[in-house]
Amino acid sequence: MQLRINQQTYQVDADADTPLLWVIRDDLGLTGTKYGCGLAQCGACSVLVDGNVVRSCVTPVAGVVGREITTIEAIEADDVGKRVVATWVERQVAQCGYCQSGQVMAATALLKHTPAPNDAQIEAAMINLCRCGTYNAIRTAMHDLAKPERA
Ligand code: FES
Ligand code: FES
Repeated sequence: MQLRINQQTYQVDADADTPLLWVIRDDLGLTGTKYGCGLAQCGACSVLVDGNVVRSCVTPVAGVVGREITTIEAIEADDVGKRVVATWVERQVAQCGYCQSGQVMAATALLKHTPAPNDAQIEAAMINLCRCGTYNAIRTAMHDLAKPERA
């Protein structure tokens, strides 16, 4: 099957129900997207599909044929993603960094749909787990990004 990932077309030989995460990491070598739980619980595997955040560990690859997939490797080619990464750096959000690809994806998806989210919208959208406990730094960065003048 053919996949569109980061503005490129890839030919992929995989069973229809193979998780997208396996294809991205193992077949295509895009290892910025992480494996955490494999159960749709942690969000480490988050990618964008047509601008919406999805958990690639439970997304069958056949379900994303013909759709535009974005992984962390290309997120800075997106204006919103670029602002998110810059703010993440400015606020020194990452600790070990393992969950941060997914966090950046969740933040980018939220800001694409809701450029100036309120606290409740941030709380509802930023639900990925972080073993290092970077939640306060994430919240600070999101509040920076939610300011209208930064949208
Ligand atoms: S690895 Fe997909 S949600 Fe945890
Ligand atoms: S920064 Fe280490 S798991 Fe989140």
